[in-house]
Amino acid sequence: MPRIGDLAPDFESMTTTGKLRFSDYAKGSWTILFSHPADFTPVCTTEMSGFALEKDFFAAHKTKLIGLSIDSIHAHIAWVQNVREKTGVLFEFPIIADLDMSVAKSYGMLQPGESETAAVRAVFFIDPNFKIRLIMYYPLNVGRNMEEIKRVLVALQTADEHKCALPLNWKPGEKAIVPPPKTLDELDTRLKSNYEMVDFYLAKRDLN
Ligand code: BEZ
Repeated sequence: MPRIGDLAPDFESMTTTGKLRFSDYAKGSWTILFSHPADFTPVCTTEMSGFALEKDFFAAHKTKLIGLSIDSIHAHIAWVQNVREKTGVLFEFPIIADLDMSVAKSYGMLQPGESETAAVRAVFFIDPNFKIRLIMYYPLNVGRNMEEIKRVLVALQTADEHKCALPLNWKPGEKAIVPPPKTLDELDTRLKSNYEMVDFYLAKRDLN
């Protein structure tokens, strides 16, 4: 089971955009790898459409998308075409055809208590160094929240850029947590600062 901080398991796989090695695809940019239980199912269709419709947002945040399910490449192609015909939404990102379940197993997407044959709804946020930074797992019967997926992506990128931590429900534009002081000098500096302070260990600052 992969954990936060691990390097992303690498693999080579057939996808709807051709055969690819994941590390070649992902390295050097942020990547979101997400699984869905099955093609031609309703909740999955809403979720995949949600990712496709946010194409400009993910491009603006220099983030690549890649989907996965334990379905054949033929099923993927037929489903992508069906959704395009019926709704006009095109899934342009690659979708991995993981028929032998090898990728799903290496990412802990196959959770037998939920299903022996279908991947759960997983979302892996992978940074440009190919490190897993955040993991979400949802069950088969509850769709994900695109606003939360976008929020945590921006939060991860913001926390890296500003070397800060971000509080409950943080949204872009809001204050960040200042790490607690580690020396008395740092404490004195903080006490003289204009940080929003509850106590010496809980202080917030603007990011700009
Ligand atoms: C769905 O996407 O609608 C779905 C897929 C598998 C199990 C339950 C729901």
